[in-house]
Amino acid sequence: MRVLGLETSCDETAAAVVEVQEPQSERPRGRALSDVIHTQAAVHERFGGVVPELASRDHLQRALPVIDEALRQARCELRDLDGLAVTRGPGLVGALLVGVQVGKSLSLASGLPLAGVNHIEGHLLAALLADDAPPPPWLALVVSGGHTSLYEMRELGQYRALGHTLDDAAGEAFDKVAKLLGLPYPGGAHIDRLAASGDPRAVDFPRGLSRRSRAAYDFSFSGLKTAVLTWVREHGLPRGEQLADVCASFQEAVCDALTLRAVRAARASRLPTLVLCGGVAANSRLRALLFERCAAEGISAVVPPPRLCTDNGAMIALAGALRLARGERADAALSADPGWRL
Ligand code: KG4
Ligand code: ZN
Repeated sequence: MRVLGLETSCDETAAAVVEVQEPQSERPRGRALSDVIHTQAAVHERFGGVVPELASRDHLQRALPVIDEALRQARCELRDLDGLAVTRGPGLVGALLVGVQVGKSLSLASGLPLAGVNHIEGHLLAALLADDAPPPPWLALVVSGGHTSLYEMRELGQYRALGHTLDDAAGEAFDKVAKLLGLPYPGGAHIDRLAASGDPRAVDFPRGLSRRSRAAYDFSFSGLKTAVLTWVREHGLPRGEQLADVCASFQEAVCDALTLRAVRAARASRLPTLVLCGGVAANSRLRALLFERCAAEGISAVVPPPRLCTDNGAMIALAGALRLARGERADAALSADPGWRL
């Protein structure tokens, strides 16, 4: 089954053609024939965050050229496809609307069936596109700029949310702390790089909700962000070694809180595999700590390559293929759903 996926939920216009083997089986496998991503980082950089209006406008200009390029790289035309998939939510409403409208128009013009996909579901299933794809079921820790959640996936297409962030997403916390330390946007990768030469025990930053049993699988990062702000107010903007130490200490607090709950959930659910996905999965310390803590518990940790972790069209095409294979069809009434909970 060959599906074209389109992603426009935030600040990336992405399209990909994915070939899915046995989409109706318990173990489908996907292979991206093309994977085109236009990032808007340069559009938003000087504002230190995503400006929704500019995002929508850029998606409008880029959606069709990105789709054309995805078809060209996959050496196929619309008539060689079996279906279309588009991100319907969650995300920025204006950005989502562009994708949904383009998806519906293409479907109408080509007669191809269309599926509306949940963006988080895309992140969760992206692991099926990796060479060493783990067999479902699995537990997934989704950590991106917009989301931080734990999901149980006992069967494909059936997701149970175990916990979410109560305030900032992990990537958002990285980006906000980077901004207050004077680093460029998006700051996650900069903190990762600087932290490599710092001491993670230099500053004892708080771990959010770790001592509250009621929120066993929830996360909170706003207190940590405030703690870094307070530190900067007391000590001034750190430079050199001190900057590396603050980055390492902040990063350690985030990774400690994330891995602690993920491993706790994997243990309680008795699922053998823990999949890490979303843009923050690129973080070197998070990957290392997750592997370390999972190994100690006999849990298999899987982290897809960074290109599959950050926003892309291939994960949307794959999730859409599974929906289409189950008989799902979106009609002309399909609309964006910016707050869609999985
Ligand atoms: O999944 P993604 O590409 O987009 C969303 O759906 O949000 O994630 C982007 C987020 C940004 O907040 C970015 O700072 C963060 O992922 N990120 C990182 C690293 N690389 C990207 N955070 C920490 N360490 C990294 N190496
Ligand atoms: Zn995402």
